[in-house]
Amino acid sequence: MEALRVAVAGATGRTGREAARAVRGAPGLQLVAAVARRRCGEDLGTVLGVEPWDVPLESDVAATLRRTRPDVLVDFTLGDAAGSHALAALDAGVRVVVGATGIPPAQVEEIRRRTRESGLGAAIVPNFSFGILLLARFCREALRFYRDVEIVELHHDGKKDRPSGTAQQLRRVLEAGGAHAPVAIHSVRLPGLVAHHEILFGGPGETLTLRHDTLSRASFGEGVVLAVRRVMEIAGLAEDLEALLATPRE
Ligand SMILES: NC(=O)c1ccc[n+]([C@@H]2O[C@H](COP(=O)([O-])OP(=O)(O)OC[C@H]3O[C@@H](n4cnc5c(N)ncnc54)[C@H](OP(=O)(O)O)[C@@H]3O)[C@@H](O)[C@H]2O)c1
Repeated sequence: MEALRVAVAGATGRTGREAARAVRGAPGLQLVAAVARRRCGEDLGTVLGVEPWDVPLESDVAATLRRTRPDVLVDFTLGDAAGSHALAALDAGVRVVVGATGIPPAQVEEIRRRTRESGLGAAIVPNFSFGILLLARFCREALRFYRDVEIVELHHDGKKDRPSGTAQQLRRVLEAGGAHAPVAIHSVRLPGLVAHHEILFGGPGETLTLRHDTLSRASFGEGVVLAVRRVMEIAGLAEDLEALLATPRE
């Protein structure tokens, strides 16, 4: 079987570089293109301080997709840039896995519409860690006994959006599961943190805290590889890792 061809946008960023590494190291996947705004023309491997990967950095997503014809675009840029990239990919017949958070709702709706019309698969996954997938499942279990719940999300001070996409995903899970709405989200931004989510349930005379800690962005690699493989099998838009795994095959 031929390898799946994968392009990574935001490949020089803190998270995108982990995605690029994971794709490059995964059996059956081939990293064919990398996009960033700076250092165009330089080799991605060299820019990341390892051996040359023979993957030059490019800045124009649409032109890169035309030239390299990937099966999937993985995007770890930022907010509305990621939304525009996803739309350009779908226009080019390329499936998308978006890891960037903070995509404006109107763009998400447009991505949903285009996947419906084209029959292509796409995934917007606010968090690729398997621990967050489990946290969402544990929240559903806790909701059998508690209805009052709040979320605290804590991130490094370089994070641009607040509340985090993951906290918003968890709020959707809690409210759909019967938590008293609206579920409040408290945001903390401090140097030294990576990405941390706490779900605090309160009942008469007790509280229950579920907490997930991301200690390094390497934790996202396996989830990205899984999402790339899975997005080839689905039609339409999946909005988190659990939905992506649950979407029936085309
Ligand atoms: N889904 C998840 O599991 C997960 C985990 C962690 C973070 N995230 C999200 O991933 C996104 C990236 O976070 P980060 O901390 O890795 O950011 P970062 O370190 O600032 O990296 C951003 C990357 O995107 C590139 N970029 C930005 N705007 C671009 C544009 N218009 N066109 C092309 N490339 C562009 C940057 O290239 P230049 O430096 O050349 O501009 C850089 O390579 C954020 O939305 C964050 O919330 C998601």
